[in-house]
Amino acid sequence: MNYIQAKTKLEAYHQEHLLDWYDEISETEQSQLLEQIDALDMQLLDIFANYQQNGEAPRGKLEPMGALTIQEIAENHDKFEHAGLDAIRHGKVGAVLLAGGMGTRLGFDKPKGMYNIGLSRKLYIFECLINNLMQVVDKAGAFVPLFIMTSEKNDEETREFFAEMKYFGYNPEYIYFFVQDTAPAVNAEGKILLEEKGKIATSPNGNGGWFSSLVKSGLLNVLQREEIEWLNIFSVDNVLQKIADPCFIGATILSGCESGSKVVSKADPEERVGVLCLEDGKPSIVEYFEMTPEMITSRESNGRLSYNYGVILNYLFQTKKLVELLDNQLSVHIVNKKVPYIDANGNFVNPENVNAYKFEKLVLDMVHLQNSCLSYEVERAKEFAPVKNAEGVDSVISAQELLRQNGIKL
Ligand code: UTP
Repeated sequence: MNYIQAKTKLEAYHQEHLLDWYDEISETEQSQLLEQIDALDMQLLDIFANYQQNGEAPRGKLEPMGALTIQEIAENHDKFEHAGLDAIRHGKVGAVLLAGGMGTRLGFDKPKGMYNIGLSRKLYIFECLINNLMQVVDKAGAFVPLFIMTSEKNDEETREFFAEMKYFGYNPEYIYFFVQDTAPAVNAEGKILLEEKGKIATSPNGNGGWFSSLVKSGLLNVLQREEIEWLNIFSVDNVLQKIADPCFIGATILSGCESGSKVVSKADPEERVGVLCLEDGKPSIVEYFEMTPEMITSRESNGRLSYNYGVILNYLFQTKKLVELLDNQLSVHIVNKKVPYIDANGNFVNPENVNAYKFEKLVLDMVHLQNSCLSYEVERAKEFAPVKNAEGVDSVISAQELLRQNGIKL
């Protein structure tokens, strides 16, 4: 894109201020800025204007959804596991590690997966995840292709770390890295912010951007060439995460559902976790802050909470369905954040309070695009040890304790 084209694109949305410092920046910065402008999705500005007028889109009719319980799974364990191992051995299953987040709550300045959670020895978060996946590989006697989504900010460091650690024993031929798309930040007037005179302030566009980013990076070819039918999507921060769990895969395939989600019974009604439910008859996730007091306390006749099954960011989606959905717009969530920027006088401002809005797509919204989803209950003490915070709930300490309980030497 040249300067004139960039100006025309920006003028249509009153964003020409992005070129205010064009004459002051180097030629390299100029071409990088033009590239950024070329990539800008201007639709986001319409979404922002609509959000300012109307707020977030209202939810449909929400209803509780049950789950295939731990007990039911145990009763059918061998059948499920056999079907899952069969799919893995036939190369039908891939796994997608979402590692493009900023991990701000943990306050670690490197990619979260590089955090050493060990005490007497080094045990990195990435290592925990690969160890968990290796258990399946050993059982199946086949490697599971692993797609790792990074962000522009942590891509290089993540790749270098994996290489330096010799992929923690995983076969690198089965590992594919790809970089997540970004979205710009805007101020309250809907003006896109510059973080430097020649650079638009951008950040990863939320974990829901994973499939379109994977496609953009050319990896759909690999999915199609290798005939990978199912993708297990999981987060970087749950060190007890079971990846490509044969039993979960088998149960989902045999259920005939289009997708699957691992869930845990809520620890208490107030637990701050998204809950799998039905929205207008289709699977969906309701966030804890969206639930009314009635929904939070409502119970079924057997005493179980009606909205009982919390999601742990471990989903199974079908490649063909994801391709079908590519043209469907995932909802864009607008979040208020603190973003450093260049002001109208060309000065760098590091704000003390939130001053901007970011655009995020969420993987949980992909669930609502499915016609059906197997809700698959797992034991939280065995499969859910998230590292979100430096201290307190879902922290390094709580995850270390859970690892210990599961016999993992720290
Ligand atoms: P979180 O919602 O915990 O966000 O991500 P975060 O950015 O990692 O952490 P905080 O909120 O700043 O502390 C859940 C999962 O989604 C991934 C994360 O890496 C994590 O595995 N994620 C999140 C992405 O891959 N991209 C994103 O843009 C956001």
